[in-house]
Amino acid sequence: MAKGTTFAFHSYKGGTGKTTLISNIAAFLAKNGKKVCLLDFDLYAPTLTIYFRKTAPFYLNNLLSGEAEISDLMVDLSPELDLKGKLYLGFSNPGKEDVHDIEIKHETKWQLAAIRKFLSAKKQLFEEYQIDYLFLDTSPGIRYWSINTLATADIQLLIMKDNDVDIEGTKKMITDIYDTLTTFGSKYFIVLNKVPGASPLNEYNLKADEKYQKDLEKEFGTKIVASIPCFCDIQFSRHEFLFAIEQPNHPFSKKMVNLAERIKGLTLV
Ligand SMILES: Nc1ncnc2c1ncn2[C@@H]1O[C@H](COP(=O)(O)OP(=O)(O)OP(=O)(O)O)[C@@H](O)[C@H]1O
Ligand SMILES: [Mg+2]
Repeated sequence: MAKGTTFAFHSYKGGTGKTTLISNIAAFLAKNGKKVCLLDFDLYAPTLTIYFRKTAPFYLNNLLSGEAEISDLMVDLSPELDLKGKLYLGFSNPGKEDVHDIEIKHETKWQLAAIRKFLSAKKQLFEEYQIDYLFLDTSPGIRYWSINTLATADIQLLIMKDNDVDIEGTKKMITDIYDTLTTFGSKYFIVLNKVPGASPLNEYNLKADEKYQKDLEKEFGTKIVASIPCFCDIQFSRHEFLFAIEQPNHPFSKKMVNLAERIKGLTLV
């Protein structure tokens, strides 16, 4: 029987750090011996090809259209990153045609067939590839494929910045979508990212914010599983890439270790 867990990283607004966090966590877990697959379900604005500086023979778009199998699109990064486990990447096509097709061309019948194809690929990932963790990067907000992707996950992590727009938008998404998803058995948790007040030399003091976080948890009806400072060197680096692997002593990487532990714990809940 398949035993892996599917996580979707999502947010109300763009730019909260979904891709950065999901890529680092996926790579970190693979480095520590887990079998991990990361799929770029940000079909409207894919970024994983740029983030990982890769091209792919086939994309998720081909899988959803029935032109490729999951085995055709998986790129195994474990050898080049020297990972103890496995890290399979499934890219989505940033090309104008495919983004346009996903956005407006396809009618409901195509979309439903596409979801079925993904569900069958997901089963294959767990049963044949024995994946421990399937990570799905998503588009922000409540677009069609964001919701589809969220609905296929066991656990959704809502990545947000600590500002009024994100807080109010996230609360609304919880009422509009997440509360319904939980009735089908999934769970959602909050990750605060880009929390102000840190510098790489002076790690953010989480304890000072304990009361504030407890209040937020009440408002969101769930736990905050991580509070990650905003590091200027990450925000402004020209090509940010897998700090958790390449700079294990960076305070951001230490936060990734904590978040990975929380993620492992969530699968046992
Ligand atoms: N903790 C952090 N500290 C500083 N910069 C960060 C942090 N997390 C992410 N960033 C930076 O924020 C920017 C946006 O991050 P990212 O692309 O991961 O967001 P996203 O939520 O995936 O965006 P989109 O919704 O557009 O897909 C990137 O430049 C990234 O390096
Ligand atoms: Mg992204």
